[in-house]
Amino acid sequence: MPSFIDFARNQYTHLPIPEPPANIKDATYIVTGANTGLGYECAKHLFHMGAKRIILAVRTPSKGEAALATIRSETGRKDVGEVWELDLTSLDSVEAFAQRVNKLDRLDAIIENAGVVMTKFQLVEGIETSVLVNVVSTMLLAFRVLPKLQESVGRFGIQTHLVIVSSNTSFQDNVKKHLEKLPGDIFDALSVKKSFNPLVQYPITKLLEIYAVHQLASLRPVSDTGVIINAQEHPKREAETSFKLFSPGLKAMARTVRSVKLKSTVPFLLLYPRDVPAWVTNETGKRTQKRVWDDLLKRLESLGHGVDIEALTTES
Ligand SMILES: NC(=O)c1ccc[n+]([C@@H]2O[C@H](COP(=O)([O-])OP(=O)(O)OC[C@H]3O[C@@H](n4cnc5c(N)ncnc54)[C@H](OP(=O)(O)O)[C@@H]3O)[C@@H](O)[C@H]2O)c1
Repeated sequence: MPSFIDFARNQYTHLPIPEPPANIKDATYIVTGANTGLGYECAKHLFHMGAKRIILAVRTPSKGEAALATIRSETGRKDVGEVWELDLTSLDSVEAFAQRVNKLDRLDAIIENAGVVMTKFQLVEGIETSVLVNVVSTMLLAFRVLPKLQESVGRFGIQTHLVIVSSNTSFQDNVKKHLEKLPGDIFDALSVKKSFNPLVQYPITKLLEIYAVHQLASLRPVSDTGVIINAQEHPKREAETSFKLFSPGLKAMARTVRSVKLKSTVPFLLLYPRDVPAWVTNETGKRTQKRVWDDLLKRLESLGHGVDIEALTTES
C-alpha cells in the first residue's frame, strides 16, 4: 500500500487525459453499475467523448433511466444511451444479459464496474453475496462477452477492451494472508457465516478478481486476440459516507473526472500511485492465482454455468 504522503503527492501529479480513440464515433460501450458512482461518471465521460452507443447496465432499470436522463441533459446528447437490466446476484440474469450483448453488431469495450461491499452475511446461489457479485458473476460475464470482443476486433479492425474495476484495498498483507489460509475450496470457505469477517471479505473479493483477470489475460494475450484484458486496480472516488471523517482534506486534493486541474468544488477522483505488490505476481502469487482460477471454474460448472476455457482460449 502507498503511504499517505505518496498518496497525497500523487494527487498533484499532472495527468494527461488520454485522447478518445479515433473510431469513437462508431464505438459501442457497456458500463455495469452505471447508475451511480464511478460507473455513472465513466458512462458520462463516454457520452462526452462522443461514443456512438453506450449501454448502462444496471440492476434497477428505474435508477438507470434516471441516470440516463441526467447524463443526456448534461451532455446534450438526447438520443444516445440505453438502459439494460443486469443483476449480478443472479447467474441467469448474467446469462440473459450476455445473450443480448452477443447480438450486438459491435462491442468496443465493457467496463465491469458494478460491485458491492457487504457488512452482513447473506448467501445467494450458495455463495456469500459479495463473492458472488464481485467475483463469480463478474467473471462469468467476462467469459461470456469475450467472444463478442474478439469478433469485433476481426470485423472492424479495432482493439477492444475488457476492463474489470477492482481495488488496491486487496493489496494489504493481511488480505493476502487471509486468502492463503482459507482451507479447501475458496468459494466454500468464504461462504461460511461463522468465519465471515466484513473487514476482509470485500478486499478478498477484489484480490480474487485480480487473480482471475490476470489468469484470463495470460491465457488470452492481446497479441493473440486484439482484446486488452485488464483489472483497474486503483480507482478512487470521494465517497460521502465512508470518507466523512477525512472528507475536507480529500476534497481539497480531489480532481474531477474530466479535468486534470485540481478543483475543490466538484471533487471526485483520487488516484493512488500504481503499484502491484510483488507477492501478487511472484511464484507464490502464481500458485494462488491458479488455485483461484480452478476453484472459480469448478464453481461455475457446479452451478450449471460452466465455461469452455479451451474453446475460449483457442477462438480467434
Ligand atoms: N469508491 C471507491 O473509492 C472505490 C475504490 C476502489 C475500487 N472501487 C470499485 O469501483 C467500483 C465502483 O465503486 P463505486 O464507489 O462507484 O460503487 P457504488 O457507488 O456503490 O456503485 C456500485 C454500483 O454497482 C451496482 N451493483 C451493486 N450490486 C449489484 C448487483 N447485484 N447487480 C448489478 N449491479 C450491482 C450498484 O447498483 P445500485 O445502485 O442499484 O446499488 C451501483 O450501480 C466497484 O467495483 C468498487 O469495488 C471503488
